[in-house]
Amino acid sequence: MANDNKLQNIIGHCKEYGFVFQSSEIYDGLSAVYDYGQLGVELKRNIRDYWWRSMTQMHDNIVGIDAAIFMHPTVWKASGHVDNFSDPMIDNKDSQKRYRVDHLIEGFAETLDKEKGDAMLQQMDQLLAANDFAGIKQLIEDNKISCAISGTCNWTDVRQFNLMFSTEIGSVAEEANVIYLRPETAQGIFVNFLNVQKTGRMKIPFGIAQTGKAFRNEIVARGFIFRMREFEQMEMQFFIKPGTQKEWYEYWKETRMKWHLSLGIGADKYRFHDHVKLAHYADAACDIEYDFPMGFKEVEGIHSRTDFDLKQHQQYSGKKLTYFDTDINQHYVPYVIETSIGLDRTVMMLLSEAYKEEDLSTADKQDNRVVLSFPPMLAPVKLAVLPLTKKDGLPEIARELIDQCKPYFKCFYEEKDSIGKRYRRQDAIGTPFCVTIDHQTKEDQTVTIRYRDSMTQERIALADVKALVMDKIKMF
Ligand code: GAP
Repeated sequence: MANDNKLQNIIGHCKEYGFVFQSSEIYDGLSAVYDYGQLGVELKRNIRDYWWRSMTQMHDNIVGIDAAIFMHPTVWKASGHVDNFSDPMIDNKDSQKRYRVDHLIEGFAETLDKEKGDAMLQQMDQLLAANDFAGIKQLIEDNKISCAISGTCNWTDVRQFNLMFSTEIGSVAEEANVIYLRPETAQGIFVNFLNVQKTGRMKIPFGIAQTGKAFRNEIVARGFIFRMREFEQMEMQFFIKPGTQKEWYEYWKETRMKWHLSLGIGADKYRFHDHVKLAHYADAACDIEYDFPMGFKEVEGIHSRTDFDLKQHQQYSGKKLTYFDTDINQHYVPYVIETSIGLDRTVMMLLSEAYKEEDLSTADKQDNRVVLSFPPMLAPVKLAVLPLTKKDGLPEIARELIDQCKPYFKCFYEEKDSIGKRYRRQDAIGTPFCVTIDHQTKEDQTVTIRYRDSMTQERIALADVKALVMDKIKMF
């Protein structure tokens, strides 16, 4: 399956089975905004839970918070977002279409052979690192990179555009104040650093984790739920003693990569990408990239943020944000290592990894299936219980099994259509286990359990089903 097709097929599959819908579809949609359907929301929630528990339950020095989306407008002045959170853009004068220059150049580089493409991207990284916008424009013109709509190379100069959405707070227009929809969840953690440290009696090193919505007015939003205007982040700020940032940066790189591998995705599908052009707050930064159908792209960022954020908030709020370290009898502003992963991007990564079109044809029969082979712990539905017929007491046994299991994990009941068709529908939504209740069940209290990935079946005791599924969906 060509990768372009794969992405289109995943998008179609997500819509057909209730994972992801275009926002406001009946009004022709809203660009780069998506809604999660009945299965997508379960998948997303399971990923969020796994991340949350990996951070706050498996580390006794990490706690969570849930800060508001609206924050005092000065937060964004202090954080640098008002002045620096912008991307260099270029407009095509004929189509009026605006592009982020890095996306425009990356798209073109992908059409070249690998060596030429890599050289071009290296040149782009250097020019961006030097803020050399004239040089970037020259690179675009020299390579005759054209607009996909007009087909021309009639470009404006490269300019910066801020990505924050603003709105107004206050009931009467005169009192209204401009506030921003947060472009990252991290600042909610920084401004609560002392609240948490003091009330939780936290000792450095410690972390604060948060998941929640973030908003960015992405100019070029493409790639399905890869780049959205409203999305969800899962971020953790780890507060450390100044001078220890290098070792903690390495620790979190390694720890986060282990988490990614624990999703059952092979090491060959991931790579680190070190940043050449560092964000205004960082002294080291890298991305964990996954090999999406459209190539290796960022899923998570790991940033050594120094004491930039806390110092800025100290300065702008006039409040001290220092920590007293009893080990060395000193006050200091802690340094921070941040891990920041996009939840929607992780959903897309898991969909890309799980989606398979399998040809099961034999000499005398054409057959195929689409299967989503999610890790069982993340699958939206864990167990489907299927009575062979609608009568003879089989549905009752099936319902009893579901009643026994549903307090522990999500189950699904279905009695319509042939067993084969029902299995295929469960494969298509990624249910790892199907149990069939048949007439033999009434005689010897056994059932057939069918495994999604291997499609093998075995006979087990009805009484063992719950324990078997519980064991396979364990997170830790
Ligand atoms: N606090 C640091 C921060 O926000 P970032 O690299 O801008 O860093 C972190 O974003 C992660 O958030 C990215 O690795 C990506 O997974 C996700 N993300 C960023 N912009 C996104 C967008 N427009 N749509 C979906 N996910 C996005």
